[in-house]
Amino acid sequence: MSTVDLGLPRLRRAGTAPSTDHRFAAGPLLDQHGRTARDLRVSLTDRCNLRCHYCMPPEGLPWLERSRVLDDEEVIRLVRLAVRDLGVTEIRFTGGEPLLRKGLEDIVAAVTRLRTPDGTPVSTSLTTNGIGLARRAAGLAAAGLTRVNVSLDTLRADRFARITRRDRHADVLAGLAAATDAGLAPVKVNAVLLRGTNDDEAADLLRWALAHGYRLRFIEQMPLDPHGTWQRDDMVTAEEILAALQREFTLAPRPGSARGAAPAETWDVLRAGARVGDVGVIASVTRPFCGDCDRTRLTADGQVRTCLFSTSETDLRDAMRSGADDATLAATWRAAMWGKLPGHDIDDPDFLHPTRPMSSIGG
Ligand code: 5AD
Ligand code: SF4
Repeated sequence: MSTVDLGLPRLRRAGTAPSTDHRFAAGPLLDQHGRTARDLRVSLTDRCNLRCHYCMPPEGLPWLERSRVLDDEEVIRLVRLAVRDLGVTEIRFTGGEPLLRKGLEDIVAAVTRLRTPDGTPVSTSLTTNGIGLARRAAGLAAAGLTRVNVSLDTLRADRFARITRRDRHADVLAGLAAATDAGLAPVKVNAVLLRGTNDDEAADLLRWALAHGYRLRFIEQMPLDPHGTWQRDDMVTAEEILAALQREFTLAPRPGSARGAAPAETWDVLRAGARVGDVGVIASVTRPFCGDCDRTRLTADGQVRTCLFSTSETDLRDAMRSGADDATLAATWRAAMWGKLPGHDIDDPDFLHPTRPMSSIGG
């Protein structure tokens, strides 16, 4: 098994035997809690060229051996299956850092050619740290990529170097500009605020994003750090972020983004009563949206994960390499999703830290 040993319970391998259960012979990716997965997140590598404190130790991680990582053909086969037979309509490429994947443009081009059974093209996006995007954005757009999500936690180069352990702030800014120029719109920026490091930057980041036409999303820090040292009290909460933004901006809940009785996740930013943009605050920990989750995940080594926080995975790579046909792979994927748990229970004292770090699961 290729999991990183975090001193945590070993990863259980669920459903490794291809499912022959007739319930999983056809249809989309349903689960027992009434959800349907339409959004596939595909990790293309577990490697990264940054070393963000909340994600990786300074020396990096024991990377997956090359032979364990799906090759381009294998990735394309599984994505094709998901789109053709499993109801998936949206593909997000993640990592590690997906720009480190050599065949990325070819994979994007192949996925762009896919159509859902009713003939609709799929939407494709890339979650990237932006390093190298300046050189690649135009090619990715030409390959058919729909849009990008760039991770950037700070506007200050010194802080960037401290958070990521690499002095590459300017590369990220150049990558963002290139994404806009290439028409990879809307360009989204993901930011994680860390107490005592960049938690004073919420309003600065929003002002900057509005000025550049980027759509900013703050994400609460989740317990996905390499050492399992995440503490709930250290996390900058959505409520704190909103309070900081409201000192400077007028925020109005975005029509349609209210989640039942829960507060909105996306807010219109108003200036002199006029809308000048929006901002997202993703309260994965304090206001989990698991009940509406429409995601399924494929790791770089070909394991289905039903959730970022899963403690089990379902193998498709070995099944595929030992000759499983598409119908068997699809049934195995459906059976895996059927077992998706209702939520992540981060707030539960018995919460189990996932057995892989974020970089090896895909953001
Ligand atoms: N909590 C929240 N977001 C995280 N990311 C990485 N680790 C965490 C975490 N523990 C973010 C990165 C990037 C995206 C891929 O996930 O900052 O925006
Ligand atoms: Fe790389 Fe993203 Fe992890 Fe930072 S958070 S080390 S950019 S994978």
